[in-house]
Amino acid sequence: MADVQIDSARIQSELVTLASFSGAPAPAVTRVLFTPVELSARAYIKQLMADAGLSVREDAVGNVFGRWEGEHPTLPAVATGSHVDAIPYSGRYDGTVGVIGALEAVRALTHAGFRPQRPVDVLMFTAEEPTRFGIGCLGSRALAGRLTPDALLALKDTHGAPFDDVRRHEGYTGDLSTVRLAPGHYHSFVELHIEQGPRLEAAGVQIGIVTAIAAPATLRVVLHGSGGHAGTVLMPERRDALAAAAELILAVERIGRASESPDAVATVGLCHVYPGAVNSIASRVTLEVDIRDIDLASRDRMVAEVQAAAQQIAAARQVEVERTVLNADRPCYGDAGVIAAIRDAAETVGCAYIELVSRAYHDTLFMAEICPVSMIFVPSRRGYSHRPDEYTSPEDIARGAEVLARTLARLAAS
Ligand code: GLV
Ligand code: MN
Ligand code: MN
Repeated sequence: MADVQIDSARIQSELVTLASFSGAPAPAVTRVLFTPVELSARAYIKQLMADAGLSVREDAVGNVFGRWEGEHPTLPAVATGSHVDAIPYSGRYDGTVGVIGALEAVRALTHAGFRPQRPVDVLMFTAEEPTRFGIGCLGSRALAGRLTPDALLALKDTHGAPFDDVRRHEGYTGDLSTVRLAPGHYHSFVELHIEQGPRLEAAGVQIGIVTAIAAPATLRVVLHGSGGHAGTVLMPERRDALAAAAELILAVERIGRASESPDAVATVGLCHVYPGAVNSIASRVTLEVDIRDIDLASRDRMVAEVQAAAQQIAAARQVEVERTVLNADRPCYGDAGVIAAIRDAAETVGCAYIELVSRAYHDTLFMAEICPVSMIFVPSRRGYSHRPDEYTSPEDIARGAEVLARTLARLAAS
């Protein structure tokens, strides 16, 4: 297995092609689930899988599986992969490196003459990003049984279109109850991903091995005030939903800062103002609040504090408030055996590594519900991510793909 040759130029050219499927002008990338550009990216990945000799299957929510058959096809497979959907105005590496890197790992192993004992699956998950349906890791949640068929049927996108209609329109008409995979279906899962934070760069190492993923929660808060004319409704009469939202946004920031937990973060990244005119008092504002911590008790405390702050601000300003917890997930932990396989692979490749906690969430969070997992991180320049200047060098990506290839070889040989 000395001759695992990663073709860095091929990875880069495929990342460039993927980045061209974007709803935003370059260098920004926007690729939202089941939009024309996302469908083009899907078709491209399926073609690359077929070209690599994988047999391609899609499930009823659009998760894509490319299988490399093993010497013992009935053994639970080793799985790898990531996502290609991208939040609005983001970069070209988030998720895509883990899909293209997985394909390159399989191609390099095939070329090196490696024959896996277990099958190896390359996955492209549906909608890791919450942009369209308000919930992250839609595909992997469904695979793990954390999003039941009934919950999938209840999902609506930002324009009110039901998930079921949207998926059927794109030809995903299968029975939703077939999506869930049984625990034990996979032997293990490893995801290659950019770090999206500054720690690898700061430590001057090329590889991060993920020991845990912080627990994310999302809260939607809708504030209903009283709209009206910005010139004629005098100040004492106002019940301004946007002014209430402004107070809540600052309360969220205070709650995140006040936590003693070093990994605690709280963010309002979405604010819809209705009707949204300069000369109109906002009658309704929708906020979405993202709250995370590796410490579940601390995360839950922050969620409760934000809920209480919303209630209190609404009461003081005489606006109505609706609060919905869209998701409140548990953290996950890396498996010692998978971590050891990555460590061995990194040592064989001869690169420095550290173990770290992922503060971003990933499909691995849900794969951990059904099999042992870990992740391989490669450095992000200045830690930038979810912005157009996200960057990881070709050398770092190629190194990550080689560590992935050697990790898969170890796991698939056992
Ligand atoms: C994934 O994109 C996350 O928000 O952590
Ligand atoms: Mn992301
Ligand atoms: Mn990602």
